[in-house]
Amino acid sequence: MMIRVLVGTLLLAVLAGATRGAEFVPGEIWRDTDGQPINAHGGGILGHDGAYYWYGEIKAGRTYLPECNKSWGGTRVAAGGVSCYRSTNLTDWKNLGVALAAVDDPAHDLYRDKVIERPKVIYNAATKKFVMWLHVDSMDYAASRSGVATSDTPAGPFTYVGSFRPNAGVWPENATAADKQAAPENALARDFSGGQMARDMTVFVDEDGKAYHFYSSEGNPTMHVSLLTDDYLKPAGKYARIFVGRSMEAPAVFKHGGKYYLIASGCTGWKPNAARSAVADNILGPWTELGNPAQGDGADETFKTQSMFVLPVAGQANTFIFMADRWQQWDLPDSRYVWLPLTFAADGRPTIRWCPRWSLPAAH
Ligand code: GAL
Repeated sequence: MMIRVLVGTLLLAVLAGATRGAEFVPGEIWRDTDGQPINAHGGGILGHDGAYYWYGEIKAGRTYLPECNKSWGGTRVAAGGVSCYRSTNLTDWKNLGVALAAVDDPAHDLYRDKVIERPKVIYNAATKKFVMWLHVDSMDYAASRSGVATSDTPAGPFTYVGSFRPNAGVWPENATAADKQAAPENALARDFSGGQMARDMTVFVDEDGKAYHFYSSEGNPTMHVSLLTDDYLKPAGKYARIFVGRSMEAPAVFKHGGKYYLIASGCTGWKPNAARSAVADNILGPWTELGNPAQGDGADETFKTQSMFVLPVAGQANTFIFMADRWQQWDLPDSRYVWLPLTFAADGRPTIRWCPRWSLPAAH
């Protein structure tokens, strides 16, 4: 334990020094240390051993609109796997290559004609494994499954474990008698035995080492938050329905002052909408919505972005970065990154304002 605390403190000290002066220009093309545009969309950041690792969807090649997604404008590129970049200052990113590769087999979850989205990596201190969770899907997003991969090193390559629909045969702890009643519109009851639909997602590790999986479920209207097993590889069989009927996607979860916060988007595909925020004393809920955290011009479309991740900056108290994707629906590989300071208003609400150019430490 002592060693863990020491290593943690050292990590904070190293990262705190390194990020000072780091500069961000939201929406511009961000290049890696080789001069190539960073290709890591819809992903997440892991702080580990004195460095940050950025994992994301590799989006390359032609953007097209498949017949099956025409009704809602679901353009796509061939699924490209998951990239990994490393930085100590959050601005100079070295490309470490493909952390999880697509697989050339139509029967495999990671086949190019399927969907690989929103990868997140967490580190399990007990097993010493890096565990990646991701949304894997069929081209029409009907499969709605959670994929898991593991690695002994942050850059991988990760070994794909497999996919499933979470929480098969388990009711949410806050399910009512009506929620358990089979009815034509009741996706929760319909999917009880086969497992719940899981699309946009994140994973969050709490201070006590317990990890939670947040996923848009029941066809997207309702989110679930689900405790993971101690090895982080599966649902532990305890979960709750949250934001019932609110159609929230792109969840990003963080903790501040002993409370849990969530930023998410509404459900409009690649098109931006007004972000949502929420707070909870207990991660399994109840969650209280706090409204759109974006403030000022462009707030109604969250500055033309959709949430990806919220990063607490190591060693800088009360400093959080709202990390978002600015999707280009008709040219997905040219989608940009928008990172902005996230601060807390006097009434405790998370707040995000547009800054054309800014550096750490962020002004409060
Ligand atoms: C968004 C979702 C993205 C991707 C996209 C497909 O709503 O957040 O991760 O699935 O739809 O159109």
